[in-house]
Amino acid sequence: MYKQLIPELPPTQPRRQFRPKVSLSLITLIVLVLGLQLIVLPRYVYRISTSQEHLNSFQLAKLDARLEQCRELNTPPINYPATTAGSRTNPRWNSVTGQNETIVLRNATLFDGETILKGRFDIVFKKGIIESVGTAGSASIADAKVVELEGGFLTPGLVDMHSHHLAFTWPLLSSTDDTNEVHDRTEPITSQVRILDSLKAYDPATTIIASGGVTTSLILPGSANIMGGEAVVVKNMLNSGADSEIVVEDLLLEHGIPKGQRRRYMKMACGENPRRVYKHTRMGNAWYFRKHMERAKELKDWQDASCLETAAVRQSGNVAAMSEFVNRLVQEESATELLEYDSTIAMLRGQVGINVHCYEPEDFEDMLLHSKEFGFRIQAFHHALEAWQVPEMIKISGENITIATFAEFALYKQEAYNANLYAGKILAEHGVPVAYKSDHVEVETNAKYLLFQAATAHSFGLATDLALQSVTSVPARSMEIDHRVGFVRPGYDADIVLWDSHPLSVGATPLQVFIDGRATLDPEKVESSRSKVVVPNSEHSAALSVRANPSVEMKESLCAEIGQPGAKIKIQGITKSFLDGPSADASSSKGLTMVIEGGKIACFDTEDQCLSASANSTLIRLREAHVLPGLTAVSVALGLGEIATDDSTGDGTANTGSDLESIPYAKYGVHLDGKSFARARIGGVTKAITAPKTRGFPGGVSVAIKTSGKKNILNGGIFKDDVALHFKVGSAAKSDKLPTVSSGIAKLRQFLTENKEKDSIYGRAANGSFPLVVHAENEFDIQQLIKIKQETPALDLVLFGGGGAHLVANELAAANIPVVLTANRGAPDTFEKINTLPGPPLSKMPAEILSNAGVTFGLAIEGESDSHIHNIPIEAAWAAKYAGLSSKQAVDLVSRNIEKILSLDVKEESRDFVIYEGNPLEFGASVVLSVDGEDGMVATCWPEAT
Ligand SMILES: *[C@@H]1O[C@H](CO)[C@@H](O)[C@H](O)[C@H]1NC(C)=O
Ligand SMILES: *[C@@H]1O[C@H](CO)[C@@H](O)[C@H](O)[C@H]1NC(C)=O
Ligand SMILES: *[C@@H]1O[C@H](CO)[C@@H](O)[C@H](O)[C@H]1NC(C)=O
Ligand SMILES: *[C@@H]1O[C@H](CO)[C@@H](O)[C@H](O)[C@H]1NC(C)=O
Ligand SMILES: *[C@@H]1O[C@H](CO)[C@@H](O)[C@H](O)[C@H]1NC(C)=O
Repeated sequence: MYKQLIPELPPTQPRRQFRPKVSLSLITLIVLVLGLQLIVLPRYVYRISTSQEHLNSFQLAKLDARLEQCRELNTPPINYPATTAGSRTNPRWNSVTGQNETIVLRNATLFDGETILKGRFDIVFKKGIIESVGTAGSASIADAKVVELEGGFLTPGLVDMHSHHLAFTWPLLSSTDDTNEVHDRTEPITSQVRILDSLKAYDPATTIIASGGVTTSLILPGSANIMGGEAVVVKNMLNSGADSEIVVEDLLLEHGIPKGQRRRYMKMACGENPRRVYKHTRMGNAWYFRKHMERAKELKDWQDASCLETAAVRQSGNVAAMSEFVNRLVQEESATELLEYDSTIAMLRGQVGINVHCYEPEDFEDMLLHSKEFGFRIQAFHHALEAWQVPEMIKISGENITIATFAEFALYKQEAYNANLYAGKILAEHGVPVAYKSDHVEVETNAKYLLFQAATAHSFGLATDLALQSVTSVPARSMEIDHRVGFVRPGYDADIVLWDSHPLSVGATPLQVFIDGRATLDPEKVESSRSKVVVPNSEHSAALSVRANPSVEMKESLCAEIGQPGAKIKIQGITKSFLDGPSADASSSKGLTMVIEGGKIACFDTEDQCLSASANSTLIRLREAHVLPGLTAVSVALGLGEIATDDSTGDGTANTGSDLESIPYAKYGVHLDGKSFARARIGGVTKAITAPKTRGFPGGVSVAIKTSGKKNILNGGIFKDDVALHFKVGSAAKSDKLPTVSSGIAKLRQFLTENKEKDSIYGRAANGSFPLVVHAENEFDIQQLIKIKQETPALDLVLFGGGGAHLVANELAAANIPVVLTANRGAPDTFEKINTLPGPPLSKMPAEILSNAGVTFGLAIEGESDSHIHNIPIEAAWAAKYAGLSSKQAVDLVSRNIEKILSLDVKEESRDFVIYEGNPLEFGASVVLSVDGEDGMVATCWPEAT
């Protein structure tokens, strides 16, 4: 199909360099139209046929239409005037549902899009526009609704420059996936399609996204195609039009602006995706792209030449020439082809912002080459996880290209493998603009948590202002909508978020989100979304810090010294310990001292008390050290696949279907080091439990491994060979052999009956002497498991997943079924998880409900890779903040509870422990060292990861 679009060019035709292909249907149409005139308008026909001196009205109209079109084609990219108070209105505002009273937010701490301003401010907005920003106390409050903030933190509404919601709605169903125009895998270029045509203005994800403070999103086509189609910017407010109906037009940022004046964006992709989908190599993809661009260039040149000719002919007044010209035009021009190439031609005219999904240096380089060859400007490289390796190459392109990337999501495929947690900092140091974006469609890319990425990047060294800009003004500027959004300044759209804490602190959550001046959160719901249990302030101080980075020399000498067997280490400045024992709460302001000898705590007390025990020790002086038990992660696939989606990099994936004959054992395939291990180490995760990667109902037997990277299979790297037997129930378990949920449940029951007496791991799982972990999400499917447990109380049944667990929390507690919860910050992204809680400010956290019901639970993370593993303590802190848990309980969620639930039998006296500088329940704490509880060696010393 694509090939037919490229007409054969005659070798020599100097004046008209090419002939646009005229499709048969167009000729038919023209013949039809002319024919119609023949019948309906005989007078004009007479004129044409009898006298060349008169133009018929068709020809004249055609000429004038062409001139108008030419004017439009030459319309330069829109330049917006600088905004000033009162100088503009919000085109989205309407008098029926629009902001109907002036609102004054008084006494706010303000990040205005550029910096956190010193002092306190009053912000006044009216009819969806910010009217003024002045020092606290300065705003007139007559006839206004006043909200007293007492220093509460405001930011502009967040801007996400990469999302797919509305095009692919929650719950995700194959019937609503309208993101990639992939038909028969024959046309890798679909620049002619528009995501606008895919939008469904009812996607409930929109409201969830807005509840995370994200008010503006660029909705892009997917990345299967080299050119995927045009993107569009929306505001995340459903039913926002005058009639409060589900109308796509009402969602658009540029609703209210004439269609011809609206911004246009193109989604493109390089690298693995189009390569995989169309089975071309990179060189093949480049050729398809260049061929397409060349054709677009020809058409553009023809349009330009034809426009000049139109103007000349029209001006000449020569009727015969005009007539001849129009006739020729009708023959030459293919309206269909021009429509098909419209976006690409507009791209060449600089009227379309270009956003390229591109990860790797060689792909950036190639795309930059194309941009110079054909003369188009790239607004942003998206995903771009490896851009940190070539900041100068990106910079010297001269186009101020934005890197729209992820802060930590990585390692899921080859081109995401050389990611770097410090990428934001590195790019910023080279002056490359950095934006964080969601890629929203599944729970792990949930756009609601966009700000979490800025906070993570900040903890890895991206400066505070830049981190906040990365989700506000930088994406706004990149998309050239920074005259409307991304700032809290007079003349901007009144998209403003009030946060419950510093926006870069753990779990920062909106208390209110204004979009076009309209409050979108119900204060009562916000209030009830958080626990009533008062957790002491000191527990959640929301302090901000950046990871410490000692010098390499210092690190090397220190680590060599304390890495010796029997090393004696003295640590000063410990302010908090979560270990069991007498000095568990070190609250002295100067901090306590710990002496470690041969891996055992020889003294943990005041400096004076530890003086004698610390003779001849290596001293480590810390400021705000925290001691935690080594954390235990339930991993996605740690050790079984270095690059998550490439089975050649690890154990592979077992296609178990319903087959119970051969059990996959993770212990036989696990490798004990890699990039995810490094991330585990910087989070203080010393052990991980990994189940085999399988498709289908049986999940195999999990293993517990150490993450230090210093141990192997033969010398203690495996902490426990067989941890639990795993099964899956629900949509993830469906296979040819067990195509339904019911057949999975039946199989589970059959398994339990048939194996009860067997002397095997199956027998032990069936008689309750070995943990049986069942992955399930839906509350009704979970009830099936509860029923099984009620019938056979001896079973050691553990629920994994638990999207709907909060709905059966009491039943789980009564049946004594513990939960390894992956839905701590879950979302109703699939149909079986339709009742999963979106979390504050829209709902409670599941952790609170499980905790109140008395369910024993721990936290695990789910997803494609283990790239988030270092943030496990942050995940726990997040749960604690809203569920009313203490810091100790938070730590237990990712250590003791997991060990208990999975019967790891960790003895307190041989427990791993970790010393952090800083509080690991806040961003920016660093692991100083960890001690392996079994051999008493220092397992990690100032671990690093990228
Ligand atoms: C403004 O609109 C809100 C919501 O539609 C309504 O509750 C309120 O009464 C209106 N206020 C005024 C002053 O009209
Ligand atoms: C602003 O809030 C602070 C409390 O955070 C209060 O002390 C101060 O008086 C307030 N200022 C104004 C102008 O209301
Ligand atoms: C590049 O973009 C950044 C962020 O969007 C902006 O701050 C900077 O002024 C721009 N630089 C140039 C040279 O345009
Ligand atoms: C101190 O430790 C070093 C090496 O660890 C050792 O050589 C030295 O003898 C020790 N001194 C005392 C007084 O224990
Ligand atoms: C369960 O089965 C295993 C293996 O057959 C056996 O060793 C164990 O004693 C049984 N335990 C119970 C509680 O029946």
